[in-house]
Amino acid sequence: MSSPKRYMVTSALPYANGPLHIGHVAGALLPADIYVRYLKAAGEEVLYVCGSDEHGAAITLRAKKEGVSPQEIVDRYHNLMKETTAKFGINFDLYDRTSTPEHHKSAQDFFLTLLEKGAFEVKSEEQFYDEQEQQFLADRYITGTCPKCSHDKAYGDQCENCGSALSPTDLIDPRSVLSGSKPVLKKTELWYLPMGDHEDWLRDYIEKGELNGKHHHEVKEWKRHVIGQCKSWIDSGLQSRAMTRDLDWGVPVPVEGAEGKVLYVWLDAPIGYISATKRWAEENGQDWEPWWKDEDTHLVHFIGKDNIVFHCLIFPILLKAHGGYNLPYNVPANEFMNLEGEKISTSRNWAVWLHEYLEEFPGHEDELRYVLTSIMPEQKDSEFTWNDYRDRVNNELADILGNFINRAVVLTHKYYEGHVPAPNELTDTDRAVLDLIAQTPVKVGELVRGYRFREAQLEAMNLARAGNKYLTEEEPWKVAKTDPERVKTIMYVCLQVTANLPFVLHPFLPNTSAKIAQALHLDHLKLKDAGQNLLAPGTAIDKTPILFTKVDEEVVAKQVQKLEDAKKASVTRQVAEAAPNIEFEQFAGLDLRVAEIIEAERVPKTKKLLKLKVNTGLDERTVVSGIAEHYAPEDVVGKKVCLLINLAPRKIRGVESQGMILMAEDAEGKLIFMSPQGGGAPGDKIS
Ligand code: 2FM
Ligand code: ZN
Repeated sequence: MSSPKRYMVTSALPYANGPLHIGHVAGALLPADIYVRYLKAAGEEVLYVCGSDEHGAAITLRAKKEGVSPQEIVDRYHNLMKETTAKFGINFDLYDRTSTPEHHKSAQDFFLTLLEKGAFEVKSEEQFYDEQEQQFLADRYITGTCPKCSHDKAYGDQCENCGSALSPTDLIDPRSVLSGSKPVLKKTELWYLPMGDHEDWLRDYIEKGELNGKHHHEVKEWKRHVIGQCKSWIDSGLQSRAMTRDLDWGVPVPVEGAEGKVLYVWLDAPIGYISATKRWAEENGQDWEPWWKDEDTHLVHFIGKDNIVFHCLIFPILLKAHGGYNLPYNVPANEFMNLEGEKISTSRNWAVWLHEYLEEFPGHEDELRYVLTSIMPEQKDSEFTWNDYRDRVNNELADILGNFINRAVVLTHKYYEGHVPAPNELTDTDRAVLDLIAQTPVKVGELVRGYRFREAQLEAMNLARAGNKYLTEEEPWKVAKTDPERVKTIMYVCLQVTANLPFVLHPFLPNTSAKIAQALHLDHLKLKDAGQNLLAPGTAIDKTPILFTKVDEEVVAKQVQKLEDAKKASVTRQVAEAAPNIEFEQFAGLDLRVAEIIEAERVPKTKKLLKLKVNTGLDERTVVSGIAEHYAPEDVVGKKVCLLINLAPRKIRGVESQGMILMAEDAEGKLIFMSPQGGGAPGDKIS
């Protein structure tokens, strides 16, 4: 395909149910921002939109918990996310939101066109329903054990452990994420997208980069893990997926008789990209359509890996079925970023929150951008730690970049009153550095266009690294005593490196780059000017401010402590949330006894289950207990326990369990036996 006329770039709309954390930044925001900053600096026509996803069960759940309206929740977090992304320097052309009437209309119109074109099948099927919360459950709000790999936290649409595509009904022992209760199946009529009908062309699109028999994109430019995930979905057979849900918060299905039904996230959030483009166009007196419909536009979606199927299979089906739209040109999805050895979690408060970082480290936005880019999870999951943050800031930004520029500028002021000296004859060493100046913008550009932001940043930093090494080895402060003419050449070379750095570093470190360019009076130049000697002899330069300060031990310790505290507080909160009151009669209905475990063995092919024989004083019976991850069979034989003996028997993995052993769960999730203290024999009643 010929080079594009313009780029339409999006970042996944973050849910407005909580603040942004470094996972959002490293996953979908920062890579897009780097890409867009680079392309714009290179003179390309680019539009970059994003916004808050203000629908979905997470928002209604949060509203319910806080006793406020969903609108109040989304207003709060939309404003916070808009503010923090702006402060952090994510340069959207527009940051929109999905609760606006304009977006509702644009999503509804999209749906109606699809309906008219016969893109859906209406089916009355059973969906999981949470009786406690009185609502149907979206796929993501059901967890259970994966039937393929036995991972016990698989979601209703996908197992993150083995990557299998799932339907909620595939899950073993499904649970509602909302209430923890066991969901029931209830019939409801919904609009389904028969994904299987699209298998053939999707295969061409994903595997060959072809669309309608024509070349669409270069397959080798797509990330391997993205293609891999799509292929495995296609290979395991594409199922019909419900595109509407029974919920009262969202974009209403615009069909008579569909009260209480809304468009599911797949038909809502990505249309948000289009709504945002429309709004931007209106505010700027432009036409929105070329951005989505002109064949010369490349549509690029930055997302996290949990949205790959969504953007590479589902959204393309919707766009194609609608007609008139471009399909994604690339979806350079990132994998996940973990934090200090654990998965980032909003609900467990295990996160570095962007708004808190901005408050606690004002003026240090570039440091976080730098570290997150250095460890961006481009091909596999990665990990942020505060120690690593400190090391990269201190050893790379401060000791290399900051130190080099500071020395170059200070020495220029010392020797030449702040004017660029005229060079004399160049040595091979000088020429090697000047050559690197010429090569760096080209390399950085290729890497950024190939979505390899880690390496691109490394290349840009390598120019600073080379300059720093050159300056250290040439030792102009020593040479000054014997050969002042040589010093002029050394400083000339150092200053050319300094002058080029803001251009190659700009997508990664916009604030630092602006400071350097300003001090060197180069603000008027563009990326295309870089790669050569930018400072003519005689040019006056200002002193640069201190670019980076070192992060000390206490700062790291404080942040690590803060994480630990936040986690404890969230555990305490969970503990504090008591269940509603019950009557004494309800309690009296529980027949609790002291019992003794007399035999124990693992339930085959399960990770969690032990099959126990217990003496209840009345009889010997079998109880299946989910404690195998905490106790080996030999650890529990002989233990006296508290047993609920009149729980209706039920079959668990083929074994009938007659009762339940009561366990406490501590803050770390460890299960602890409730054993009688100082005596107690099997059969003793507990009340
Ligand atoms: O998964 C999510 O975070 C949703 N808010 C959808 C993001 S992708 C979308 F914007 F298309
Ligand atoms: Zn699995």
